[in-house]
Amino acid sequence: LAKQKEELINLHKDCFEYFREQLYLRKNIEAVKYIIKRRIAKDTAKRFGLGFCPEKNDLYDRLSQKYSKEIIDLSGIFLERNGKNYCRFEGRLIFPIFDTMNRVIAFGGRIISDASAAPKYMNSPDTLIFSKSRILYGLNIAKQSKENEFVVVEGYMDVIALHQEGIDNAVGVLGTALTQDHSFLLRRYKNEVVLCLDSDEAGKKAAIRSADILYQNGLMVRVMELEGAKDPDEYIKRFGKDAFLLKKQNSMFVIDYKVKELKNQYDLTKSDQKFRFVREYFEKILIPISNEVERQEYIKKLSDLTGVNENVISKEFSKTTQK
Ligand code: GTP
Ligand code: MN
Ligand code: MN
Ligand code: MN
Ligand code: MN
Repeated sequence: LAKQKEELINLHKDCFEYFREQLYLRKNIEAVKYIIKRRIAKDTAKRFGLGFCPEKNDLYDRLSQKYSKEIIDLSGIFLERNGKNYCRFEGRLIFPIFDTMNRVIAFGGRIISDASAAPKYMNSPDTLIFSKSRILYGLNIAKQSKENEFVVVEGYMDVIALHQEGIDNAVGVLGTALTQDHSFLLRRYKNEVVLCLDSDEAGKKAAIRSADILYQNGLMVRVMELEGAKDPDEYIKRFGKDAFLLKKQNSMFVIDYKVKELKNQYDLTKSDQKFRFVREYFEKILIPISNEVERQEYIKKLSDLTGVNENVISKEFSKTTQK
């Protein structure tokens, strides 16, 4: 197994170098045009090791000269169609995925034509050396940042755009849900996280779920909201670095963010809605808090929001949790 892992690492390195060379060939000018269109600077592309996989390529044959069929299959880079092996990243801009030791262990690929019907992104499947739930894109660079927090975003482009603007502590979860393993990984380096996910409904839902996981694993979590842009990449390109940093400074502590989101769903001037709000507040805000000091603070807040006496809330809350 150790031998297979080593071979897979070598194979990924070879593919990485191949893709990178391809990006700068004249015949693949479309890929460079796409990078320019996304406003990725040359040195940024270099720092992230971006590459391109041409539609027509001899990658499989090249690798066959050096690696066994078994290893090539285990890499997950190739798919079989009509008895022929072809690279799953054909025609795509390549984002190498590095582990914290700076080894390439997987790839992501994006279509470069928005007219294409193919899925926008394609990623390596989980392999002996890659597990999506245990990797954060850009962590190999961000772990060295002097900031005392990480900025967690959704996508490759978000990480790259933020780093390009000097936000060197950004990491990406690559569309998957944030896991406990991601929390452990982050906590190895820093104990604060600012979540900056997409501003669509999916991103908002994911923010609450992710924030809970991070917070329950002992990280201090804040949530950032981006108005006027659908994600951090678009935001920083439209409004600039200073606006982004200001937003970050104004980000809300996870529990305050959850209270705000919950409060928005109810009209507290109506009794029936107020009662339902209190029940949901118990369940979604108070129960997940394990620290008594913090819980007391949010009991006070509930009292302020509803006009119900603090002692009454405390009494009812302990009744609820005893059941
Ligand atoms: P751009 O359009 O290039 O700016 O991408 P985005 O990162 O804004 O895309 P989106 O917010 O839709 O998705 C966030 C992340 O989820 C991406 O960076 C990918 O890692 C992942 N993702 C998005 N679409 C797909 C897909 O079709 N297939 C897979 N496997 N992953 C995807
Ligand atoms: Mn999507
Ligand atoms: Mn998204
Ligand atoms: Mn985007
Ligand atoms: Mn996005």
